[in-house]
Amino acid sequence: MTKKNSLRILFVTPECAPWVKTGGLGDVSAALPRALRESGIDVRVLLPGYPDVLRHVQGAPVAAELALPGFPPARLLRARLPDDVPLWVVDCPECYERGGGPYGDEQGRDWPDNPLRFGLLSRAAALLCGAASPLDWRPAVVHCNDWQTGLVPAYLHFDPQATAASVMTLHNLAFQGIFPPEWVGRLGLPQEAFSMNGVEYYGRLSFLKAGLYYADRLTTVSPRYALEIQSAPLGFGLEGLLAGRREALTGIVNGIDTELWDSARDPYLAARYDAATLDAKAGNKRVLQQRLGLRVEPDMPLLGVVSRLTPQKGLDWVVQVAARIMALPAQLAVLGSGDAELEAAFGELARRYPGQAAVRIGFAEPLAHLLEAGADIFLMPSRFEPCGLNQMYSQRYGTPPVVHATGGLSDTVSDATADPVRGTGFVFPKTTAASFFGAVGRAVRAYRDPALWRRIQQNGMARDFGWPGPARSYAALYGELVRSRGGATLS
Ligand code: ADP
Ligand code: GLC
Repeated sequence: MTKKNSLRILFVTPECAPWVKTGGLGDVSAALPRALRESGIDVRVLLPGYPDVLRHVQGAPVAAELALPGFPPARLLRARLPDDVPLWVVDCPECYERGGGPYGDEQGRDWPDNPLRFGLLSRAAALLCGAASPLDWRPAVVHCNDWQTGLVPAYLHFDPQATAASVMTLHNLAFQGIFPPEWVGRLGLPQEAFSMNGVEYYGRLSFLKAGLYYADRLTTVSPRYALEIQSAPLGFGLEGLLAGRREALTGIVNGIDTELWDSARDPYLAARYDAATLDAKAGNKRVLQQRLGLRVEPDMPLLGVVSRLTPQKGLDWVVQVAARIMALPAQLAVLGSGDAELEAAFGELARRYPGQAAVRIGFAEPLAHLLEAGADIFLMPSRFEPCGLNQMYSQRYGTPPVVHATGGLSDTVSDATADPVRGTGFVFPKTTAASFFGAVGRAVRAYRDPALWRRIQQNGMARDFGWPGPARSYAALYGELVRSRGGATLS
């Protein structure tokens, strides 16, 4: 699929759907490399060898033994992702072979050796970027994602043999990978890196800051978030550095996988439909209501949530105004997992309003699809949202979203009250429960006007949320970066 002289990109990530996914980064790490490859770029993914990855690449040949000073012995396996994108797996039992999730144990406690685990991922990536690489495939650009890969640009900076340029994508600044200063030496970084102009952050080692400081280019997953993080509070303490690097920083809005998220073909739906057959959507609502123990009420608006349950997502506002939502009346269906307090608060709502509010705690791909299709209105009141994928899924499924005016939510949803001709959802301006509830009220009133509602649904369904556009923007960025470093021209 790729041409002989195509641009070589090493895409380093801690997650890749469907094998390892805790959120949108997993989705992006599967879909973006595939889209890049389809556009002729020679992209390869580097992923840690968690058990869920090794299970899928059984029998994969060893491409190299990795003996990196300070790190346990590891091997590089050569494999492919389900969609055929070439993959390198860092197989290191001491670091990755354990139960739990990619970042912590079953109870959600972070692994204490995370600096070593993601230091190794970063160190292995950097090795593949220079003359000491054991492989004959050498990338022009290494594309890093989130704090887990933040040390790659730092290692490259201090390696005189490194040849690749680096791009660091910020999917969420709330997670920074901050560890005690002893790790600087243990991970093989020179002490001179441990300064304000380097990897140091208030006396500790920050993986994310390392990436932000040393990467050649920075991207965020929406243009609006790229602006928001240049000041407090959304810069999470890094706003000064980010503002200083604004010339290197761009926002490229994520796409979604339009094959996995296609209401006309989705195997998880009870009834398939498209923009011309929206009446069939009701079949999903009925089955969703039955499955969740909600009363089967075809005409009562059903509000849906699929989310990590964390303060970022603003779902405490849903809890705060739940009584008013119930009085509209409307039904509420929530699928999510995360903070114990929020899980308990939603559980309590379901008990207080049996048949009208339902909650499923857990991570369930099939139910997420049915909920996106079966709900009438999707709620995503995030306090901040670097991009967000669910609001795009819901627009594509004819389920207009209620969103806060922030980050990618602003960049991908247009307000149907302000623009009834082209609007696709309902956007609220303030970080308050009242502002959120105002938008819910507007959405429910619009739902009561069938012609208006159909237009809003169809506007959302007609939007192009595919990956080819964003992939072109990344390709342009890589090309510009390689040219600016005087590198070879592209095929
Ligand atoms: P974030 O990465 O901040 O969690 P995104 O909207 O970018 O937010 O991506 C979240 C992804 O995780 C989406 O694909 C969404 O469908 C999925 N997801 C989140 N929570 C659940 C859940 N409880 N069950 C199934 N899928 C979920
Ligand atoms: C992060 C962000 C989310 C974004 C996702 C993929 O998890 O919270 O907004 O969509 O990364 O880029």
